This record gives sequence, structure tokens and C-alpha cells, in this order.
Amino acid sequence: MFALGIDVGTSGSRALLIDEVGQIVGSATEEHAPFASPQVGWAEQHPEDWWRATCVAVRAVMAASGVTAAEVACVGFSGQMHGAVMLDAKGSVVRPALIWCDQRTQAQCDWLNQTIGAERIIQLTCNPALTNFTLTKLLWVREHEPANWSRVRSVMLPKDYVRFRLTGERAIDMADASGTLMLEVAKRRWSAEMLAACNLPEQLLPALYESPEVCGKLSVEGAAACGLRTGTAVVAGAGDQAAGAVGMGIVRPGSVSATIGTSGVVFAATDRPALDPHGRLHTFCHAIPGTWHVMGVTQAAGLSLRWFRDQFGVGIDDGRDPYARLSDEAGMAPAGCDGMLWAPYLMGERTPHLDPEARGALVGITASHTRAHVVRAILEGVAFSLRDTFSIFAEMHVPVASIRLGGGGARSAIWRQIQADVYAHDVELVEAEEGAAYGAALLAGVGAGIWRSVAEACEATVRVATTVKPTPDAQATMEAGYAHFRRIYPALRSIAKG
Ligand code: XUL
Repeated sequence: MFALGIDVGTSGSRALLIDEVGQIVGSATEEHAPFASPQVGWAEQHPEDWWRATCVAVRAVMAASGVTAAEVACVGFSGQMHGAVMLDAKGSVVRPALIWCDQRTQAQCDWLNQTIGAERIIQLTCNPALTNFTLTKLLWVREHEPANWSRVRSVMLPKDYVRFRLTGERAIDMADASGTLMLEVAKRRWSAEMLAACNLPEQLLPALYESPEVCGKLSVEGAAACGLRTGTAVVAGAGDQAAGAVGMGIVRPGSVSATIGTSGVVFAATDRPALDPHGRLHTFCHAIPGTWHVMGVTQAAGLSLRWFRDQFGVGIDDGRDPYARLSDEAGMAPAGCDGMLWAPYLMGERTPHLDPEARGALVGITASHTRAHVVRAILEGVAFSLRDTFSIFAEMHVPVASIRLGGGGARSAIWRQIQADVYAHDVELVEAEEGAAYGAALLAGVGAGIWRSVAEACEATVRVATTVKPTPDAQATMEAGYAHFRRIYPALRSIAKG
């Protein structure tokens, strides 16, 4: 028996198969077209492209692993959060999805705060109105594209659209639903009050499930499209951050992860919905039934490095993985980059500034700086930005006993060391650093009955492979660098806003 995890990310969709002991038997990724940004701060993708990529990735992993469709007991999902996929009465996509990092909806956030009240929104949803959240995107389309909106009969999140194509079911998990601003996160149900205030019927939204719950079966068409068996069970799964946390064993209070993908997230499991009174962290349901988590988000973490790669290249192209090459280059500059600092606000910023108009900056450039300094400054700046979340955890007394690294920031040796030095804490790497797709597969394994609970699945499968310790000198340099980093945003803001 095998379990399949599907992760519908921003840059690609990934399919990953595990066996009954949680060993990975294969994985495959198919890239998406880059998101379109037709205006500054906008970000859109075509749901059809996610579906295409998923089918390619699932077929590829099945072919390469030799596992037959009949041996796949259950499918789990994870995906980029907060996106708004809008479907008409026939289930066709009405317009491209506004995705998680789209920042066009400040006016809609202001309207929500005026209409419902900022405090009431936090009481109901545990979170403030932010441009990232799905509800604000729906309000934008209703206001700016009435003809499109008049056709919308159902709304779902990216991975749930892929599930819809596979099963015909409209379903969502509590963790991903938490990022819509339409869920009562503490009570784990849709918020009738938020929906009524926005004049949106609950029928627009998918049915709610806990992450490891079975919520449908593959349809004849869905199964045929991706080479799986009709009737295969699917579980609800989770948004990529909660699924990634499952894949790293972030189950109990004290366990924290720091994941650098396109975005960067510091994530702590909690046994209650812990609130940051300033709304700088998200308080969401965890993928483990009856538990929650808090997380802080850097909008452009891996995206900072990708932006540098796309605009300025990889230096000498020796045919190696471009990110491995950039990591090597960063290693040629000293810790602290001789005073150069990177503020990673390429898509506005969430934690801690909650400012869709924040802008990035490279600060402190001199004639003696090199390309290597710039690359290293980007790695350090992203880590400083994630450290902001640890600073808020300290204010809120969220315990941090262990930190596990995920995503591209875990795969680069220099970025691992930078993170240990900047967080001033040991950082751990798990054996199967496979991110959200692995968590989605574990959730499917629970759905298939391989493990009795998500906690049991994590205990049985997740092992720490390496621990990286801070180096005292670099840690002191980073402490000083962080103090300077914190002064950049207020200075930039005074330039941008007068
Ligand atoms: C989390 C978030 C991102 C996306 C993209 O709040 O917006 O992590 O899920 O992966």
C-alpha cells in the first residue's frame, strides 16, 4: 500500500509517493508558468496550469516508481494558500486566480475594517484583514469586475481546485480555510457573521474537513487524467505551511520550523489559538485536528534570490544548479557582508510590518563590495526578516525548544549556517526534507489507516538528520546586523510615504 502527496506550489506542482513506513519511493515536479504581474503588486496564475502540472507530475512519479494505480490507497493535498479560484455554474474557471502574494486589495481591507470593525474581525477570525487573504480578493473582483463576479458560483483555494478536478468534490481543510478570513479559526467553522457582513452566501464555499479526513474519491475523469484508479480515496490535506510542518514533525508546542520557499515562514505549533494583539502573526488551525499554530511570513524569501538570479544571472554558468552556484558565491563574502544589508520587501511585507506598499532595498553599498556580497546579503536579509517572527514569539511567550529548517533555505549549507547564526539557536534538518508534499503524503497515510493519527505518523517517520550550531563570532556579527536591519524599514517608509 502506498500514499500519494500532491503539493500545488507557486513555482511548480510536486507529486510524492511513500510506502507504509513513510519511505519515499519517488517524487516528480512539473514547473508552472511564472505568476503574471500585470500591475505592480498583482499576482495571478491560471488554475488550468496547476491541473496540467499535477497530471504530469503524478504520471511521472507513477511511471518512475513502478507503483501501480491499484496500490495507491489514498491521495493527500497541500498547496499555496490564500489564492482565490472562482468557478461558474458549470465548474469552469471565471478568471485567473489572484494568488497569495497579490497585494491589490488594501481598499477592500479598509472597507472590511470600517464595516465590521478591525477588533471584531480579529475576534471572529483570529486574524486582521490583510491583502493576502482570500476574502479581500473576492471583494476586489466583485467591485472591479462585476461581469466576472456575476458568473461566480463557487470559490476555492488552489489545491482544492486540483482536488475538484480529480474528484468533483468541493472540499477544504481547516488549516487552508484559516487563511481566507472567512473561518472562525477558534471554533473551526465558517463565520456566518463575516459572510453576512460581506453579503456572501456560504454555498459559495467548500465543505470543511480536518486535514487527515477522507473527503472524496477519484472520479472516472479525474483518475483517467492523471493515471490513477477511479474510486481512490482522497483526504482533505492542508495549506502548504501546515502540511510542511507535518512533514517536519512540528506537532507539539515548542516545535518550530523555519521554511524558505518562495515565501519564508516561521511556524510554531500551539495547543490553543494564540493571538498577537497587533496581528503581525497569523493564528491558524493546524493540520492536526483540535490544534492550532502561529506563523510569521516574509513575502519574498526564496523569491528574493530567484529575482536576483532572473535579473542578474548566476555569474559563471558552469551548468550546475543555479542556486547551488549562488550559494557557493555567497560563501566568498564574509558574515555581515562588510555592512551591506538586504531588505526583502519585493512584494510588500507581512510580518512584522503588514504593509503591502513596503519596498525592498540593498543598503550600505561601497566600491569594495562584490557580487558575492550582494548574494550573501540577500541570504542574510531573508534570515533577518524571519528573525522578526522569533522576536514576536518572544513577546508572546510562544516557546521555541527546537527549530527545524525546510525548503531551499534548508538545502543550502551556507543558508543553514546563516540561519543558525541569525536565530542564535541550533537548527535541525530532518532526513526527508521534502516539504509540504511529504506532509500531504503522511496525511494521506493517516486517511488510508497506515497510522492512527497525524502525531503517530510524524513519530513513526520524521527523524533529525543533522543539527547545525551557531558559530560564536558570526552570531555576534549577525546580532549587530539584525539591529541595523530593524532600522531599514522605518527609514524606507519615511522615504516612500513622506
Ligand atoms: C502563507 C503563504 C505562503 C503561500 C505560498 O501564509 O502565503 O506560504 O502559502 O506558498
